[in-house]
Amino acid sequence: MQRNKFLKVFGTVRRVRNSSTWWQNVEQGPPDPIMGVVEAFKKDKNPKKVNLSVGAYRTDEGKPYVLPCVRKAEALVIDKKLDKEYAPIQGIAEFNEQSAKLAFGSESYIIQHGFNATVQGLSGTGSLRMGAAFLASFFPGPKVVYLPNPTWANHTPIFKHSGLDLKTYKYYDPNSCSLDFCGMMEDISNIPQKSIILLHAIAHNPTGVDPSQEQWMEISEAIKKKNLLVFFDMAYQGFVSGDLDADAASVRLFIDECHPILLAQSFAKNMGLYGERAGAFTVITDSKEETARVLSQLKILIRAMYSNPPVHGARIVAEILKSPELTCQWKDELKGMADRIMAMRKKLKQGLEKEGSTRNWDHITNQRGMFCFTGLKPEQVKKLTAEFSIYLTMNGRISIAGVGSKNVDYLAHAIHQVSK
Ligand SMILES: Cc1ncc(COP(=O)(O)O)c(C=O)c1O
Repeated sequence: MQRNKFLKVFGTVRRVRNSSTWWQNVEQGPPDPIMGVVEAFKKDKNPKKVNLSVGAYRTDEGKPYVLPCVRKAEALVIDKKLDKEYAPIQGIAEFNEQSAKLAFGSESYIIQHGFNATVQGLSGTGSLRMGAAFLASFFPGPKVVYLPNPTWANHTPIFKHSGLDLKTYKYYDPNSCSLDFCGMMEDISNIPQKSIILLHAIAHNPTGVDPSQEQWMEISEAIKKKNLLVFFDMAYQGFVSGDLDADAASVRLFIDECHPILLAQSFAKNMGLYGERAGAFTVITDSKEETARVLSQLKILIRAMYSNPPVHGARIVAEILKSPELTCQWKDELKGMADRIMAMRKKLKQGLEKEGSTRNWDHITNQRGMFCFTGLKPEQVKKLTAEFSIYLTMNGRISIAGVGSKNVDYLAHAIHQVSK
């Protein structure tokens, strides 16, 4: 039997084996920027501390929220005493079918004609990663993905990790804290033909800034001219308006305009299933026959990456989506979350006005979804944290979902103090 020996070297205990370690050249990696903020928050002893860094919904009391419809669906799933066998490689059929209907609309010709190759993904991140792997293997054009600037911090490593090159297009105007539509259109017009462009379908993260429906139409036209392949990331369907159809309008417009899109969906935010990793990845195809070919290759990629997806979260989602009553309840609860976020946006803006701030804070209520890109500079963010124990990312993004009626005035006061 191998006996481990321990040796104290410069104060650290090391296990000594015959050969030296294989990993001596592995450098310490930087911590994840958001997780670093969370760690600092945990250590803070100030009873007034507020964590606005994480993109997860909180109740008005600042607690995590399990949707009652999810509890009900979960009880139904457990009652069925299903086995724990492997899911098919492409995931649970009912889940895939319902996810596609949710995105494209149950009456969509895409669904009716089987023009969608949909597989279960590991939430939004895993679905994006699957899409990136598919593009890396099969995209016939230049393997470059154009991302909005700024974008969700994880987009860059997800695509890079799959071996794709990245470029950016203009998206946000820091002066007006709104969409830089002209800049975006100009950049799109300069993207080489047949490249890949990533679009946030709704509730752009981190800016909370989305194009209007008219602007989406112009974007669609410009993209068509360039023959770009659109990869939609839809992580917040229903979170903006509480209306699942309205929040899928951009995706459905592109479908109506015959764009052969890719789509990553997540149920983390809209069903609060963060840790269950329920999501879906779809390739829109030209025919049923193409769907079959694409699906066969997606299955080969999945098999090599994680073999098959987890079942529990997907069963909960399917249970909700196939039951009209549970879907109805879900829509109410989703609207409740969206409305609470909107109410907090209004209160924060009013609070800043009450504090006497003369700055224009219209963007707080104009921006949408979970996040607000406050426009605070890194120096002001540092002050917010050091002097008021308010934690956010350095780019000035706050999760409005983390603001409640008990801390909104404190937040307004603190923001005014660092920004006046
Ligand atoms: C824009 C965007 N895409 C995708 C995701 C993926 O989330 P998850 O993997 O938890 O579904 C997020 C989460 O914050 C996001 O903001």
